[in-house]
Amino acid sequence: MTHIYAERVNCMANSAIRELLKVTEQPNVISFAGGLPAPELFPLSDIRESYDRVLGAGDPSVLQYGTTEGFLPLREEISAQMRGKGIQAEADNIFLTNGSQQGLDLIAKLFLNPGDEVLLQNPSYLGAIQTFRSYQANFRVIPTFEGIIDIPALELSLQACQPKLIYLAPTYQNPTGTTLTIEERKTIARLASQYEIPVIEDDPYGELRYEGPAIAPIKSLAAEDAVIYLGTFSKTLAPGLRLGWIVADRELITKLIVAKQGTDLHTSTLLQRATHYYLTHFNASEHIEKIRQSYKVRRDLMLAELKANFSTQVIWTEPTGGMFIWLTLPDNYDTVKLLPRALAANVAYVPGAHFFARQESSSSMRLNFSNPTALQIKQGLKALAEIVAVD
Ligand SMILES: Cc1ncc(COP(=O)(O)O)c(C=O)c1O
Repeated sequence: MTHIYAERVNCMANSAIRELLKVTEQPNVISFAGGLPAPELFPLSDIRESYDRVLGAGDPSVLQYGTTEGFLPLREEISAQMRGKGIQAEADNIFLTNGSQQGLDLIAKLFLNPGDEVLLQNPSYLGAIQTFRSYQANFRVIPTFEGIIDIPALELSLQACQPKLIYLAPTYQNPTGTTLTIEERKTIARLASQYEIPVIEDDPYGELRYEGPAIAPIKSLAAEDAVIYLGTFSKTLAPGLRLGWIVADRELITKLIVAKQGTDLHTSTLLQRATHYYLTHFNASEHIEKIRQSYKVRRDLMLAELKANFSTQVIWTEPTGGMFIWLTLPDNYDTVKLLPRALAANVAYVPGAHFFARQESSSSMRLNFSNPTALQIKQGLKALAEIVAVD
């Protein structure tokens, strides 16, 4: 039988990173490609104890169906954390998801008709581009000049195309590691209200801050319904748990409930209970501090090794948080074409082109520093520099 798929299936591409990760799983490959946390930092025994405690308490409801919006005590806990960031949220404003990737999908499902425009940074998180594309969205790029948002050009763009959504990962962005300034955040908040275009603020890396003061989320600077904030436990606890949340106004939450019911009814009851136990019985802040210290050392090492190995024609970002450095080779390089040679030398990165909604080739690449060990960072960057030098 020949399956006749819906038209939108033509817009669904395999994630380049998922494909690449299959290659990099080989033990001899040094991978800067994934967005993986360091597994040795997962709080394995605390999570095991949390599961043991909720299962051992004799309460069968931990295995029962739950509400679509999620376990109330966990939503209360998260809303308190959000208030700590200046976001005015009650438990009713919190909606639990299977990671923020599901949040992106549900929001796209609710807002996007085929042909609608999404305004985003160039480059942007590949998984967001992939999701919006699968709902047949078109993309428009947020105009920037020397790394700063060009506000007059952005206003013209908003007037000209009336995008349905603005997508931003403003803090330690994936893939560049860069962060929007407080002025840019205030302007985005103002424009979102003025033009009535919701902003999706995707914030998986905000807690991974290595220097400087914490910067206010756009949601804390905006009218309640102007910003839809996405959080996740993937980078602070473990991505395999698959637990994230959306902070939104109540009207949108009622729509999200309907959208998620059609997808998976609700997020795992046991996972929510165990995570709530973990958050209320263990020291999550201390754990995040441990991650911060370890990743800061890796980031510093990667920056030092880049300086030691690469010529002055190669430039890179110096992120103050997150998991990624964005490296740019001279214009005549195409990092898609360079990748097979890197893989042959057992080193992997993600070519920059995959992060552009509207661009075919790029001389940039994304390098992850949270997952490789110090030795791997040293050996991998040396190998990469040799490949670039002989090209
Ligand atoms: C910017 C961004 N948004 C969303 C996600 C998805 O995160 P989750 O594991 O919570 O689905 C990632 C994962 O790397 C990401 O980098």
